[in-house]
Amino acid sequence: MKAVVSMEYDIIEKVNEVAAAGGSLEDRLERAARLFAEEFHFDQCLFFLAGSGGALKLAAASSGLCTTGVLCYGKGEGLPAVAMEKGGLVEAQKEPGRAEWEGVPDPGLEGVSTALVYPLGGGGSFSGVVYLKARERTSLSPARKDLLKVASLQAALMIRNAVLLEDHRRAHAELLAMQEKLASSEKLLALGDMAATMAHEIRNPLLSLGGYAARLKRQLPSGSPGLVYIEKMSQEIGRIEKIMNGIIRFLNDNLAELKTDDLNCIVDEALDIFADEFSAHGIAVERRSVHAPLTVLADREQMKIAFDNIIANAIQSMEKGGALKVVTSRSGDFAVAEVSDTGGGIDPEHIGYIFNPFFTTKKHGTGLGLPIANSIITRHRGGIEVRNEGRGASFTIRLPYSGAASVSSDLLPAEAGRVV
Ligand SMILES: Nc1ncnc2c1ncn2[C@@H]1O[C@H](COP(=O)(O)OP(=O)(O)OP(=O)(O)O)[C@@H](O)[C@H]1O
Ligand SMILES: [Mg+2]
Repeated sequence: MKAVVSMEYDIIEKVNEVAAAGGSLEDRLERAARLFAEEFHFDQCLFFLAGSGGALKLAAASSGLCTTGVLCYGKGEGLPAVAMEKGGLVEAQKEPGRAEWEGVPDPGLEGVSTALVYPLGGGGSFSGVVYLKARERTSLSPARKDLLKVASLQAALMIRNAVLLEDHRRAHAELLAMQEKLASSEKLLALGDMAATMAHEIRNPLLSLGGYAARLKRQLPSGSPGLVYIEKMSQEIGRIEKIMNGIIRFLNDNLAELKTDDLNCIVDEALDIFADEFSAHGIAVERRSVHAPLTVLADREQMKIAFDNIIANAIQSMEKGGALKVVTSRSGDFAVAEVSDTGGGIDPEHIGYIFNPFFTTKKHGTGLGLPIANSIITRHRGGIEVRNEGRGASFTIRLPYSGAASVSSDLLPAEAGRVV
């Protein structure tokens, strides 16, 4: 008798072995399904696992019946739903002349006389069901039913562990990806520091070179053939100097203390600088401020650099004249400046790149003007957007309106400008 009892309980050990074995959850469930069918003398055993929206999906099945029936039970469908709702074992026999099992139809029971479903898990939280089917009428003794419950509980633990392991693996992979990102952003920071140092180091000898070229130019008699070369040298030196200054500005992430300011005044000062150029190029300026004052927290000098770059681009796009419209207003929590020109706009193929450092379509451009403007604006917790509108390009600059929201002076890293 003792030997029989221990044989009966063999299944516990066997399920343990399956649970501890390597391989995918599906493989282990398939082995468990074969084991359950064999040990409980049913023709087939299936494991259904809970998916999204309360549906149950077939995860593994032993062979035995030529058909596995349905592959998925929707929420509340078939005998599995009855077992889940009951939170316990459902044993059903086919009633002659009746299509329903325990009052519900179950298309997975064609050719079956006895069905047994047990929910996997406990405490109202089920990860699925184990489903046993037999062609003939059969039933389990109370002791065997208890054994089925224990074996099912083991299978439920195996599933739970597999899900936890999967979650753990995913979290680990995410952590590794984040670490990699961090390492590369640290590298970028180091690269930025290096570029800034290099730009500073190059700028000083460059200034000397410019000085020597100017001295040489003064010493050469007029009409000397060498003068042309010296002129070209000076131009190239000036160009490198412009690039170096641009790099230094772009990488400079220090803003002086932010002060309460009026965006209207900042824009007006930036426009004033270009007064001569506007008349030289025949550009008519329309300036409108809808709300005043437009209180913002700003580093005025830096914000002026941002507007300088945007206005300079507008002028360069209207060398033969046009109209520049600058409107400032308040929109919700933002003070907004809109700078629009009639210079032909930006090629749609280029518009996605114009905030990238060194992107330029100009012969003597550095491609740093807009990246500098974008970096300054985003460090003010603002944003810049561009779109082609009318006959030209239109840039919208937003800064937090300091009276409307609690604005901290913590600065944000620069983000990419937006094309709308
Ligand atoms: N108002 C505009 N109209 C048409 N194209 C523009 C306008 N503003 C910017 N762009 C396009 O965006 C590109 C990048 O502008 P960005 O100011 O960054 O560099 P750049 O003007 O080429 O060079 P730099 O600013 O050093 O003179 C320009 O080369 C031009 O193609
Ligand atoms: Mg520019």
